[in-house]
Amino acid sequence: MQKALLQVDGQSYELDIVIGSEGEKALDIAKLRDKTGYITLDVGYKNTGATTSGITFIDGEQGILRYRGYPIEQLAEFSTYLEIAYLLLYGELPTKAQLEQFERKIAERTLIHEDIKKFFDGFPSSAHPMGILASVVCSLSSFYPESLDPHAPDEVVERNIIRLLAKVPTLIAWIYKKRKGHPYMYPRNDKSYVANFLYMMFGMPTYDYEPDTHVVDALNKLLILHADHEQNCSTSTVRTVGSSQANIYASVAAGMCALWGPLHGGANQEVIEMLEMIRADGGNIQKWINRAKDKNDPFRLMGFGHRVYKNFDPRAKIIKQAADQVLNVLGIHDPVLDIAKKLEEVALSDPYFIERRLYPNVDFYSGIIYRALGIPVEMFTVMFAFGRLAGWLAQWWEMRRANEPIVRPRQVYTGPTLREYVPIAKRG
Ligand code: SDX
Repeated sequence: MQKALLQVDGQSYELDIVIGSEGEKALDIAKLRDKTGYITLDVGYKNTGATTSGITFIDGEQGILRYRGYPIEQLAEFSTYLEIAYLLLYGELPTKAQLEQFERKIAERTLIHEDIKKFFDGFPSSAHPMGILASVVCSLSSFYPESLDPHAPDEVVERNIIRLLAKVPTLIAWIYKKRKGHPYMYPRNDKSYVANFLYMMFGMPTYDYEPDTHVVDALNKLLILHADHEQNCSTSTVRTVGSSQANIYASVAAGMCALWGPLHGGANQEVIEMLEMIRADGGNIQKWINRAKDKNDPFRLMGFGHRVYKNFDPRAKIIKQAADQVLNVLGIHDPVLDIAKKLEEVALSDPYFIERRLYPNVDFYSGIIYRALGIPVEMFTVMFAFGRLAGWLAQWWEMRRANEPIVRPRQVYTGPTLREYVPIAKRG
């Protein structure tokens, strides 16, 4: 084991160096406070590793993203979302028979308890879809009490993982139908996973609906690209909540709430709203670039920048190409795509963005495809949650199998020092 030497208060301490399978290096500070009395401080955990994980590898400098060692470019091109979900959960690509069994297990659980419809009735039709989704997903624990046992065997955990993969698409489709005031469409086991989702979203009881295969392919690709991303904000939330032995439904619902934030998964909705605003404002790209650079202006270029990627987000590259393809195949011209491309071109030639290594991220172009697929902008973050579900589940399972301790960071206290209480009668 390589060692690092820490010198503080005239003492020297050895720290173990942990080296990952891709050569990433970390100082193991698990016993730092016991040895030295010091903790580390890293607001936002920009330099802090919370765990070791074998699921996803990202190299922000090289723009590399791999799920269980497989490059995202190959998976997005040739795989399907459920095949990727299997890979993330079990660590290996499934055989044909394994994938068919996995797909069948999911197809058999796509229905939702009829009582859950009453939850939907309680929300205003204007409710944000993420608020409904997170609430209803957390409530699923009430229907599957076996999930509350933190010591349940793997087969019980696996059954509830399958339930979530099976039911979340149905919930999302029903959220859409509620917003439209349309009848709920029940899942069809004779359709593929993504085709079934699109059927529940856009089908109607009054006629047969078969989704366009190009749309199915585009959505599979988007879901794959969103499936996992190591210890991002929402995945860290899922692992943190799960570390207290809270059930998987509560953990995933918490992850959905974290993803909702505009700095995270909520950015895909913000991007489209930003592009529409720029278009409505006459398309003056430079004006908005200047505002994004102005420290006194709260406006940020949504869909730009990333905590890890400092050259380019490989997902953004793939989605940008896919956006052109999907719009072309569907015969759609979306002027907002032209604005997005121009914005990227101007930003990437501006020293402010170059110096800060700010590039388009996964959210910059994804909304253009969702919109072309007929998905309303308020549902974009729900679509991000749909894709990320497989990663959340795989990461939660990895954390539980590793028997990781409850997450409980320390702090540096900066408040008032000791003082005596004075009764109000004497305080005047
Ligand atoms: C996702 O972590 C993941 O993996 C997330 C994700 C996933 O798959 O799970 O990839 C999904 O969340 C993508 C990010 C979506 N969010 C946005 O697009 C919102 C806009 N981007 C930012 O707010 C920002 O870039 C973050 C939140 C993505 C990253 O923030 P950091 O790493 O904390 O960086 P920072 O805010 O400290 O910014 C560094 C500098 C600052 O300038 P200075 O103070 O150094 O002068 O860059 C500036 C920031 O002001 N900056 C921007 C900017 N993003 C950063 N300036 C203008 N526009 C932007 N978008």
